[in-house]
Amino acid sequence: MKTEITDLLKIKYPIIQGGMAWVAEYHLAAAVSEAGGLGLIGAANAPVEWVREQIREVRRRTDKPFGVNIMLMSPSADEVAKIIVEEQVPVVTTGAGNPEKYMTMWKEAGTKVIPVVASVAMAKRMERCGADAVVAEGTEAGGHIGENTTMVLIPQIVDAVSIPVIAAGGIADGRGIAAALMLGAKAVQIGTHFVVTKESQVHDNYKKAILKAKDIDSKVTGRTTGHPVRALRNQMTKDYLKLENEGASPEELEMLTLGGLRKAVVDGDVVHGSVMAGQIAGLVKEELTCQELIQKLVKETDTLMRGTNCYE
Ligand SMILES: Cc1cc2nc3c(=O)[nH]c(=O)nc-3n(C[C@H](O)[C@H](O)[C@H](O)COP(=O)(O)O)c2cc1C
Repeated sequence: MKTEITDLLKIKYPIIQGGMAWVAEYHLAAAVSEAGGLGLIGAANAPVEWVREQIREVRRRTDKPFGVNIMLMSPSADEVAKIIVEEQVPVVTTGAGNPEKYMTMWKEAGTKVIPVVASVAMAKRMERCGADAVVAEGTEAGGHIGENTTMVLIPQIVDAVSIPVIAAGGIADGRGIAAALMLGAKAVQIGTHFVVTKESQVHDNYKKAILKAKDIDSKVTGRTTGHPVRALRNQMTKDYLKLENEGASPEELEMLTLGGLRKAVVDGDVVHGSVMAGQIAGLVKEELTCQELIQKLVKETDTLMRGTNCYE
């Protein structure tokens, strides 16, 4: 399981836990890193001091590498970007924008920079900006998404750039990891399955909703606003899609999702909240510790890569 990414990030296994807003806090990130993957803290729109505290809590729990995911559209992005340097965070992944203006500062601090992209053009642009790798995320993923599927995106980005590519979207077992590696990826980023782990602090209702979900149970809202989001179908997605079909304004639509992820993650309101999860939720059948999940993924991948099929 040694790849360019395990070498670059100094981790044991090429498995990264997605920097998920509200979900990816220190218990989860530390557990993933301690188990040999790369745990990420999801900074999203969180207050700056919360991010600093999270970083320190991860460090209290593990001496292994970890990272922070920054949403570049967040009003506090500039300040969080500085915290990365002050706290000497080993890895930063970025979403919703171009991290160019922070690149020199992060590079000088020795931080590895990995933007999340959903197209070949964006991957090439990030490589030109000096990114160390990219996460290529397919439309199967939970949360904010692009148009291309993982299957078509990975090989095209792999051919277009010379930095290593990390595959995300629709991966939850060894078959997914082996397939991603075959497509040319050097690691995978997993979100949905890490939401359902013992260390994940999300409300039990959220975990149960993922465990119960079938292949067709996710819906994409926000296509008309240009900000598509994948979440499990519930009353919120039903109301949203109805309004969207009726041509509601972006402001009206936003009212439905405002604070929706928090509602689902913290309050356990899986009816009116936004239960962000990917299409692969249907494959998530048990809640394991991060250590157990990573060991299972590694064993399955290893078996497949050696040419035997452990699923038969
Ligand atoms: C609940 C949830 C919240 C997410 N929030 C973020 C985020 O804040 N920033 C980000 O870059 N990706 C976010 N993602 C995407 C994940 O980091 C990851 O790339 C994705 O979940 C991988 O696909 P999968 O869900 O099929 O495993 C989120 C995903 C989920 C499920």
